[in-house]
Amino acid sequence: MDTQQGNKEIVLAERPSGEPTSSTFRINDIKMPELKDNQVLLKSLYVSVDPGMRGFMDEGEDDARGQKFDLNKPITSRTVAQVIKSNHDNFPAGTIIHGRLAWQKYQSIAPENLEKVDPDIAPISTAVSILGVTGLAAYFGMLRIGKPQDEETVVVSGAAGAVGSVAVQIATLRGCRVIGIAGSDEKIDYLEQDLGINRGINYKTTDDMEQAISEACPEGVDVFFDNVGGEMFDAVFANINKNARIVICGQIAEYNKLDPPKGPRPQHDLIKYSARMEGFVVFDFEDEFDEAKKQLGKWYNTGELKYRENLLKGFEHLPEAFIGLFSGDNIGKQMVKVAEPDLN
Ligand SMILES: NC(=O)c1ccc[n+]([C@@H]2O[C@H](COP(=O)([O-])OP(=O)(O)OC[C@H]3O[C@@H](n4cnc5c(N)ncnc54)[C@H](OP(=O)(O)O)[C@@H]3O)[C@@H](O)[C@H]2O)c1
Repeated sequence: MDTQQGNKEIVLAERPSGEPTSSTFRINDIKMPELKDNQVLLKSLYVSVDPGMRGFMDEGEDDARGQKFDLNKPITSRTVAQVIKSNHDNFPAGTIIHGRLAWQKYQSIAPENLEKVDPDIAPISTAVSILGVTGLAAYFGMLRIGKPQDEETVVVSGAAGAVGSVAVQIATLRGCRVIGIAGSDEKIDYLEQDLGINRGINYKTTDDMEQAISEACPEGVDVFFDNVGGEMFDAVFANINKNARIVICGQIAEYNKLDPPKGPRPQHDLIKYSARMEGFVVFDFEDEFDEAKKQLGKWYNTGELKYRENLLKGFEHLPEAFIGLFSGDNIGKQMVKVAEPDLN
């Protein structure tokens, strides 16, 4: 077991004002943790970075899930790790788990809130990608709130990212005409060629997004799955149909704004089109996670659900991976591979 190398952690060094930068983070050398009764010693393998973590870096009240980061304390995020020593009967050495863990190469923890990962279902990294929070957000947002019907038109923003790339595929599986918006030609090729959507729009090379959506959706938009917000929201919203469903999954265009613009007020059009706009947090559906993971795993195993991971290698690349989310560096799920699992 590889415990001889030094341990490291990454802490929140300062609260970002606007965009996060390298000085938002500090990397510290720390001791290998002791292993107490009923604890397990974990080695981090795959660490997820998520745009929503940006909000946890701001000052303010903890939300209901207690997710704010403290200054000079380790950042936390969804992580796949391996038990390398154990004082807990249910989590013997060698077990692969996932959970919300500290940005530390090694940590000891009581495992009650950890979930075991079954490597026979899919590669273990998928526990924080298609079978993790991002896959689940796409699943519940699209199926429970968007409710796409056969031959309807579905538009997804942030379509080549972790959530978006699953959302477009679920809409395709439901028999819809799917339009994806993303920020590079490479992403548009990925969406059209690899994921088989009907049409991609590169918003960075399109002058009039409202017009582009209108041309791509001649019959109007029935479901809009929004990961971005801001002016992109306005452009798609201007094309909605009667009884449209607008799924507010994320608003990444707003996360770094110190004073987010208020924008047009949609209420009048929601009335006019009998449309429904609904936000959600994936944990609203926590009781149904197991069932959803089974379905996502099944689609993955039949080849109906493809995924791509944007892997940076090495613990010290975590800040860069997080910052890159806001400049669109990733296709698919952004994560950092910290270490290989030990083979027993
Ligand atoms: N409601 C929930 O429970 C829930 C759960 C998970 C995630 N989310 C939200 O879902 C969204 C997607 O998350 P993810 O993990 O899948 O991230 P992601 O899409 O994999 O990564 C972020 C992507 O957003 C795009 N982007 C960044 N800044 C932008 C801007 N100013 N305008 C337009 N696009 C921008 C970039 O792609 P381009 O190259 O296309 O610009 C970037 O690659 C986020 O808003 C996240 O907060 C919500």
